[in-house]
Amino acid sequence: MAERTYLVTGGAGYVGSHLVLALVERGDRVVVLDDLRQGHRGALPPAGAELVQADIADRRKLEEVFAAWRFEAVFHFAALSLVGESMREPLRYCAENLSNSLRLAEAAVKAGCLRFVLSSTAALFGNPKRTPIDETADLAPTSAYGESKLMVERGLSWAEGAHGLRSACLRYFNAAGADPQGRIGEDHEPETHLIPLAICAALGTRPPLTVFGAAYPTPDGTCVRDYVHVTDLADAHLRVLARLDHGSCRYNVGSGTGYSVREVIAAVERIGGRPVPHHFGERRAGDPAVLVASSQRLRDDTGWSPRLGALDEIVRTAWAWHASHPRGFDDRSKA
Ligand code: UFG
Repeated sequence: MAERTYLVTGGAGYVGSHLVLALVERGDRVVVLDDLRQGHRGALPPAGAELVQADIADRRKLEEVFAAWRFEAVFHFAALSLVGESMREPLRYCAENLSNSLRLAEAAVKAGCLRFVLSSTAALFGNPKRTPIDETADLAPTSAYGESKLMVERGLSWAEGAHGLRSACLRYFNAAGADPQGRIGEDHEPETHLIPLAICAALGTRPPLTVFGAAYPTPDGTCVRDYVHVTDLADAHLRVLARLDHGSCRYNVGSGTGYSVREVIAAVERIGGRPVPHHFGERRAGDPAVLVASSQRLRDDTGWSPRLGALDEIVRTAWAWHASHPRGFDDRSKA
């Protein structure tokens, strides 16, 4: 098959880098646009992916990139993505995520690249009325982060009629795990996610875990989430490309199974063979009790299913990554 070229913004970040790896492994060429503020050069494969180190807000750079390559599609990951921070800086979140995304879409349209895949989020749904959450659920974000992604999804919808831009918006539930071959994994700073924090607490590379709330209306009192393996998420991105030939689409992406915070801690202890030092604290503002996806539409339309979906597999791959990379990609002084 002829080599194709894809643009991946934020391709040196956590989910983006797993997609870049999947594209390169199937023989595609990738151009990564990433300013490396959150991303890591070491997350990119040694060959097959070219890094353009630039801020996605740099309009001239965007034009240069689209002039230099002809892309089959754009995968857009680069965004502000911390729910808590978005509540303190809602205007920045809404303004930056919306303007950067739509400017990118505009540049793609101008260059004649009419396939666009957006990294979206379960935060679109806020506190869902029913579970599992399918694509017909109310869109009612309870954070400025969720609101900003909803605005981007809406902007993209308008672009289909006017410009023929076909977009796939993938609403991730809880992305977790690491490349099963151990080449790349999760390295956020600050880290706010449960699985890396629990593993690093067990490894002693981060402080004990605080469990946010133990009196939720769930079977064991702690929040329930749908953890989806990052390699399965990458696979979902590849599969929706073909689906775009039929028009724009929106998909919820999760494993369909919920696990409580206590169950995650137990899995980390079982797989790591060490206790997870933890204590119970206050609820974190904005945390819904239960978030579980129905990914039936994605399964039906693309044949996707989570191959590494079991919690143990997610924790096993994440544990292997953190144990072998106690300092992550070890490039904190990069900036
Ligand atoms: N949790 C703790 N202690 C911690 C961190 C997390 O108890 O130190 C709990 C949270 O309260 C939550 C669960 O672990 O119940 C998972 O929390 P994460 O921070 O790992 O993930 P979230 O479910 O909060 O966030 C995910 C995505 C966001 C997305 C959000 C939608 O990471 O990008 O779902 O609600 F916006």
